[in-house]
Amino acid sequence: MENRIQKVAIVFFSPRENTRTVAEWFRNIFQEKGIDARTRDLTGLNRNGISEAEIGFLERMDLLLVGSPVYSWHIAPPVEWFASRLPRVHHKLAVPFVTYGGVNSGVALAELARSLNKRGYLIAGAGKFLGKHSLMFGGKRPLGRNHPDDEEKEFAKKLVNKVISDSRGEKDSPNQIAWQALNNKHALVRMLSGRVNMKSMGPMMPKISVHPEKCTKCRVCIEACPVKVISINAEPKILKGCVYCYNCVRLCPEKVFTASMIGLEMALRGMAVMNRERPKSQIW
Ligand SMILES: Cc1cc2nc3c(=O)[nH]c(=O)nc-3n(C[C@H](O)[C@H](O)[C@H](O)COP(=O)(O)O)c2cc1C
Ligand code: SF4
Ligand code: SF4
Repeated sequence: MENRIQKVAIVFFSPRENTRTVAEWFRNIFQEKGIDARTRDLTGLNRNGISEAEIGFLERMDLLLVGSPVYSWHIAPPVEWFASRLPRVHHKLAVPFVTYGGVNSGVALAELARSLNKRGYLIAGAGKFLGKHSLMFGGKRPLGRNHPDDEEKEFAKKLVNKVISDSRGEKDSPNQIAWQALNNKHALVRMLSGRVNMKSMGPMMPKISVHPEKCTKCRVCIEACPVKVISINAEPKILKGCVYCYNCVRLCPEKVFTASMIGLEMALRGMAVMNRERPKSQIW
C-alpha cells in the first residue's frame, strides 16, 4: 500500500541538546526509509523571528513533528509562539514530542497536541523522552543523566514505524490520538498546571548576577542565548523575555553571568522523588 508520508518537517527548540538529539534521530529514521525529512531549529530566534515566512514551507509537508523541552510543566515559550502562528490546515498529520529532566513532564505534551489540534492537525502519534536535566549543569549526576539514550532511540523508531504504518490505511483520516489521552495521569498535576508555569516559577529561579567589568565582548553569550535577550552594546545585560536556561551562566568564559544553582537542584531532586514519574519515556 502507498505511503502517504513523503515529506516530513521536524521543528524544535533546544537550548541544551536533548530535544535536538531526538529531532535528529527522527530525521535520520525517516531518511533511512527514503522519506524527505528536514529539521527546522527555533533555537536562537526571537519572537519576531518565528514569522510567517519561517513557517510557510510547512504547506508542502505531509507530516509535522514539533519538539519542545518541558519548562515548568509546559512547553517552552518559542514552541508556544510557533504553534500559535501555524497556518490553519485541514486534517494534516502531526506528532508532538517533549523531552524533560526526570522531575515532572507536567502537561506539556497534551498542551502541544491541543495547540496543533486547534490549527487543524490530527495527532498521529506522540512521544515523551527522558533527558538530562538542563538546570543541573553544575554537578556530575544530573537527573536523567546519559539520556536520551538507546532506549529513547528505540522509542523514536517505533513511533516513526507506527505513524507510517497507520498512514498506509485506507481511511481518509488515519488513526488519531485525542490530546486528552496525552494528559498527565496525576489529577493533582493537571489541577495545579494552571498555577505552575514559567511566569509563576520565574521569581523562584536562581537570580543571575552580572559582572560587566569582566566582559571581553567575545559574543559567546549572544550566540548561546536561545531567545536572544542578551545585549552587550554598552555593557552586558539581560533584557525582558529570559527563559532561565542559564546558557549564559554556563558558557560565558569570563564568568560575567553567575548564579547559584545548588538550592534549586536540591528542590528539583526532592520533587522528582515525590512525583516518581513512570514510565520515564513513552510513546503513543
Ligand atoms: C527553565 C527550565 C524549566 C524546566 N522545567 C522542567 C520541568 O518542569 N520538569 C522536568 O522534568 N524538567 C524540566 N526542565 C528540564 C528540561 O525539560 C530537560 O532537561 C529538557 O530535556 C531540556 O531540553 P534541551 O536539552 O533540548 O534544552 C526544565 C529546564 C529548564 C531550563
Ligand atoms: S560571553 Fe561573557 S565575556 Fe563574552 S560577550 Fe558575553 S558576557 Fe562578555
Ligand atoms: S539570558 Fe541567559 S538564562 Fe536567559 S534565556 Fe538567555 S542564555 Fe538563557
